[in-house]
Amino acid sequence: RGAKVYSQQCAACHQAQGQGIPGSFPPQKNHTAELYNATDGIGGRQYLGHVLQYGLTGSIEVGGTAYNGNMPAWGGALTNQQIADVLNYVLTAFGNEQRLAGEFQPYTAEEIKAIAGQNLSGKDVYQLRQAVLGQ
Ligand code: HEM
Repeated sequence: RGAKVYSQQCAACHQAQGQGIPGSFPPQKNHTAELYNATDGIGGRQYLGHVLQYGLTGSIEVGGTAYNGNMPAWGGALTNQQIADVLNYVLTAFGNEQRLAGEFQPYTAEEIKAIAGQNLSGKDVYQLRQAVLGQ
């Protein structure tokens, strides 16, 4: 299920194999698991739910390449189940599956629902990212 959401809603920017476009769209490949594993702030697992729900705006660096774009918010456009499915897909594909720390418990629609309804912006999520990565 998550593979279909990914190909329809994410691959246009992050590309079919999750490789991204350097300087424009950051990779999912070999990267999203690192975010997931981060433990500062609200923690990587919660952070990823926030990125999907509310988007992300701010200057970041991934694998030594800088990005300063705008990740769209998907809350409302995708169902909670679809957001859970696509995160479960990305975290178990593109090399991320080998990089996850510990056993992966899939996201549920209930978990995504608990993140929704906070009226956050992509800039707020950027602050969360810095806290999660200890930057
Ligand atoms: C960032 C996933 C769709 C453009 C991110 C990040 C994730 C992600 C996890 C955070 C990376 C990090 O913190 O290092 C997804 C998923 C999508 C999706 C699962 C489909 C539901 C899109 C689309 C676009 C896009 C369609 C382009 C219109 C971006 C950009 C960033 C980003 C530009 C970096 C934002 C910044 O520089 O602050 N995406 N994305 N994403 N995404 Fe997506």
